[in-house]
Amino acid sequence: MVGIRGPYGNGFPIDRIEGHDLLIAAGGLGMAPLRSLLWWTLDHQERYGRVTLMYGARQPETMLFRDELVSLTGRSDLDCLLTGDEDPGGEWSGHIGLLPSLFDHARIEPSRTFAAVCGPPIVFHIILEKLLDLGFTKDRILMSLERRMKCGVGKCGHCSVGYRYTCVHGPIFTYWDAINLPELV
Ligand code: FES
Repeated sequence: MVGIRGPYGNGFPIDRIEGHDLLIAAGGLGMAPLRSLLWWTLDHQERYGRVTLMYGARQPETMLFRDELVSLTGRSDLDCLLTGDEDPGGEWSGHIGLLPSLFDHARIEPSRTFAAVCGPPIVFHIILEKLLDLGFTKDRILMSLERRMKCGVGKCGHCSVGYRYTCVHGPIFTYWDAINLPELV
């Protein structure tokens, strides 16, 4: 017998993303919730257009899933762009620079692309601003937001943001949601 309790919230709208390109932008620990989306699209490549991963960490050695992601850099069905803010060890042969600098190396057509973003608040602010500048529509900017959860079923209010609960209404919100609930990020 297996018992399952919350959160029972939403996931990435993989059906809506079908037929479109996808940009996954992650900073720091934000790679964790985006990894499953990355692998879903790679495993069902025929349903999606160009997939781009932009992932930045403070240093290359602090990247999550670093070996796995480095092994993806040679794939023809993925633009895998990895960067470290700095490389004190000097052993990283990839990009060095802040996450937004990867936009210079990405081939993105905003009119046919969904963006999925996760990271610390500074990453949201910088990446969202860049996406809007590029012309991404607000309903195609998806954010995975985390909050401390207790009950996980919409009862205790611990994860509330305004009138929304991330445990049952999230953790995936669009930029439209963020406009109406500025404290989301
Ligand atoms: S954890 Fe969301 S309401 Fe309790």
